[in-house]
Amino acid sequence: MGWAAPLVFCFVLAASHLIIPLHRLRSAASPPLYTDSRWLVDAGGRRVKLACVNWVAHMEPMVAEGLGKQPLAAISGQIAAMGFNCVRLTWALFMLTNDSLSSLTVVESLRRLGLAESAAGVEVNNPKLAHLSVVQAFQEVVSSLARNDVMVVLDNQISKPEWCCSKFDGNGFFGDEFFDPGEWLRGLSLMAALFNGSSSVVAMSLRNELRGPRQNLTDWYRYMQIGAEAVHSANPDVLVILSGLDYDKDLSFLAEKPVELSFSGKLVFELHWYGFSDDGDWERGNPNEVCGSVVGNLTERGLFLLEQGHPLFLSEFGLDQRALSLADARFLSCLTAMAAELDLDWALWALQGSYYLREGTLAYDETYGILTWSWCEPRNSFFLPRISTLQSPLRGPGLSENSEFQMIFHPSTGQCILKNPKTNELELGSCADTEAWSFQGGSLAMEGTELHLLADGVGEPARVGPSGGCGGSIWRLISDSKMHIATTLANDGGTTVCLDAGAEAGGGGGVVTNLCKCLTKEELPCDPQSQWFKVVSSTRSLRWRRRPLASHGGASGRRTWIATD
Ligand SMILES: *[C@@H]1O[C@H](CO)[C@@H](O)[C@H](O)[C@H]1NC(C)=O
Ligand SMILES: *[C@@H]1O[C@H](CO)[C@@H](O)[C@H](O)[C@H]1NC(C)=O
Ligand SMILES: *[C@@H]1O[C@H](CO)[C@@H](O)[C@H](O)[C@H]1NC(C)=O
Ligand SMILES: *[C@@H]1O[C@H](CO)[C@@H](O)[C@H](O)[C@H]1NC(C)=O
Repeated sequence: MGWAAPLVFCFVLAASHLIIPLHRLRSAASPPLYTDSRWLVDAGGRRVKLACVNWVAHMEPMVAEGLGKQPLAAISGQIAAMGFNCVRLTWALFMLTNDSLSSLTVVESLRRLGLAESAAGVEVNNPKLAHLSVVQAFQEVVSSLARNDVMVVLDNQISKPEWCCSKFDGNGFFGDEFFDPGEWLRGLSLMAALFNGSSSVVAMSLRNELRGPRQNLTDWYRYMQIGAEAVHSANPDVLVILSGLDYDKDLSFLAEKPVELSFSGKLVFELHWYGFSDDGDWERGNPNEVCGSVVGNLTERGLFLLEQGHPLFLSEFGLDQRALSLADARFLSCLTAMAAELDLDWALWALQGSYYLREGTLAYDETYGILTWSWCEPRNSFFLPRISTLQSPLRGPGLSENSEFQMIFHPSTGQCILKNPKTNELELGSCADTEAWSFQGGSLAMEGTELHLLADGVGEPARVGPSGGCGGSIWRLISDSKMHIATTLANDGGTTVCLDAGAEAGGGGGVVTNLCKCLTKEELPCDPQSQWFKVVSSTRSLRWRRRPLASHGGASGRRTWIATD
């Protein structure tokens, strides 16, 4: 690589601003945010869903990654264009607590680490930032995101600026070599005060992924409570987010003992989930069993908090964005189904396509990065469609644009089952155009019509029609994952079939019923993803509204397209 600073103009980037689907256009939240039972709400009491991407600024240079590759405004614009409304921006404690680090300018910080090429890249792409201090540049990143209506969650990722996280890196738990509780409290207060009055900074994660031999609950409660109070007194407008033990995989202890704070309406918990923590099961195991078991474990370790009325933020999950491996495809389907059902707040790992420096490697390629190495465009087209339904809220306070209905979400495509208004056949399409289904007592019907979901036979299209005298097909959720929607065929010797859709299902892109896959161990290897569906509750506005039926049994259920939002 030469010294010439890369100045790649992204045509794709410019164009992508023009093609934001209508349903992604949301009105910005009006901060500050509060908690209302398990939900985050804005000042008007209306639900705000965090659909974030993690952007790293905690590494040795203490400079948000990518500023050597693209102009800051282009990066912020691209984040919004990809449908994210929020960034979890990481920072290292010593950036604020060590004056000799705080006072470095961006180019000084890069050059002292031998990153002359990155320094030159910042001077070309972001000349206004190059000679600001690292702290001022961090503030500029927040301001640029704010100009794009992107909220910020500040995450204290580590103390000593470097790649996180190892059990023995001296940054894992209170009392470790670089983790002095007093210094941590001072840094949190400084950061909270720095953004007091900056309304786009909606939350602070007090410390990422606590871990290592020193972790213990006595100290967790002690310091987390003091840390939350310190942040609150310096900046009463931010939510405080508490991470669990064991790399933020464990919040189970909260079932026994709550956190006690002097203030209310501001406390959130966070949890992390990566497929590689699930023991290689995603590749070798029965995917129904693995998904059922992992989600069961997550429920015990943290998801239960939602039931108890506490907000829970899935603040890291991610996968290799170069190509979707079979294991990652299953992990992602299982995760997005769960996230849709619970309508979780979340943050993807990660935005950055590359690092100035990571673990000794210059210009390190981040394979989990949603952007390419040059920060020019999304690394792969498979990913965003899989999560786009999760980028806006489905339900929650102030969102009752419709009475509650169900959508039938197909996680392996990110789409939903709808009836093609021209052909009347069932197919997968944008969840923004979903039918309003009603799933009650085994009947899956299109709300406001007499149309029920019906199964005719193995390999036959599923269809909707009047249920007839016998009540039509009775549907139930089966397998360990509970993601197969099954019925027993009345006219076929009691055969059980499952809804099936997508490329693997056959049936030319429509929704069909096939023999159910991977219900037992004996069938391995097998892949049930085309048959995975989640019946998800929603009250959000639909882009169409069904006309009341003119007469009983007039079964066509025509759609009228209307403008919404
Ligand atoms: C501040 O950081 C510098 C550079 O890493 C280090 O040499 C110095 O010891 C630190 N100072 C304190 C007070 O920790
Ligand atoms: C937790 O750590 C503190 C000091 O770091 C120690 O005094 C205490 O005994 C530990 N508690 C448990 C339950 O291990
Ligand atoms: C935070 O800002 C508010 C005004 O926005 C001010 O009243 C308050 O004193 C500030 N708090 C601190 C700790 O600086
Ligand atoms: C779920 O937790 C149980 C008990 O801790 C463990 O034995 C099992 O392996 C876990 N399952 C997965 C898939 O991680």
